[in-house]
Amino acid sequence: MSASPILEARGIQKRFARHPVLQGVDLSVESGAVTILLGANGSGKSTLIRCLTGLERIDAGEVWLDGGRIDRLRGAARRRARRRIALVFQHFNLIDNVSVFQNVLNGAMGRAPLGMLGVLSPLASTELRDKAMDCLARVGLADRAAHPARTLSGGQQQRVAIARALMQQADVLIADEPVASLDPQAGRGVMDLLVAVAREEGMTVLASLHQLALAEEYGDRIVGLKAGQVDFDTGAEPVARDRMEALYVEGVDAPAGEEAA
Ligand SMILES: Nc1ncnc2c1ncn2[C@@H]1O[C@H](COP(=O)(O)OP(=O)(O)OP(=O)(O)O)[C@@H](O)[C@H]1O
Ligand SMILES: [Mg+2]
Repeated sequence: MSASPILEARGIQKRFARHPVLQGVDLSVESGAVTILLGANGSGKSTLIRCLTGLERIDAGEVWLDGGRIDRLRGAARRRARRRIALVFQHFNLIDNVSVFQNVLNGAMGRAPLGMLGVLSPLASTELRDKAMDCLARVGLADRAAHPARTLSGGQQQRVAIARALMQQADVLIADEPVASLDPQAGRGVMDLLVAVAREEGMTVLASLHQLALAEEYGDRIVGLKAGQVDFDTGAEPVARDRMEALYVEGVDAPAGEEAA
């Protein structure tokens, strides 16, 4: 693979209480590509994503973004680094009672506290407001701008979350099971959009999935996580399908041996 990683995990370790959940994860996410993270329930995908984005402190290892180490940052430097990574979760994480438009606009506002959103939105410049509409048009939802987010379908809400990521002008979009709550057709729509965002906007995409077929179809590269370690990486070597399937067959040996979060 080419040598231009934008996001790198180096030897990440994370444990909860006594349970080691990530046991020395190395992951180098190539700029502009779509990288898919696969792994059984409890293998550590969400924890890895949370560690990469600073939502969780790591016990050992390093996280690098665009050539700078970010896991030790504090205060404003940390906030700046985190804004360069946009997050999309399984459960849409929109603000239900505000409009689709305001949710997208929020991407440009440093994730203002909820209570501030209604105050800040009217103060946004015309330029920002136009941009938010562009981002909504980009995901095919300009006509829903004024609707409260909660009135949209799951697939539409996920598209709004992607529009917000575009608005944030993040370098990397990390999506944790972005299609898990969606029907197959809506799921494909969201995956198509994530690939388009990578191809057309040059945004780097890292997404965790549970569907092998989607991973193969949409991923430029697939990384398999097993019991908190990288089991395979199609960016490094060809990986047979049965090896990928084995992630799930043998996935019950997750380190903490608990119900997945
Ligand atoms: N905050 C936490 N406190 C304690 N244990 C945790 C915490 N977060 C995750 N874990 C444990 O870490 C392990 C990995 O969980 P994680 O959510 O990262 O897995 P996952 O691969 O995302 O699973 P799933 O496919 O179910 O989403 C699990 O055993 C889980 O119980
Ligand atoms: Mg998870």
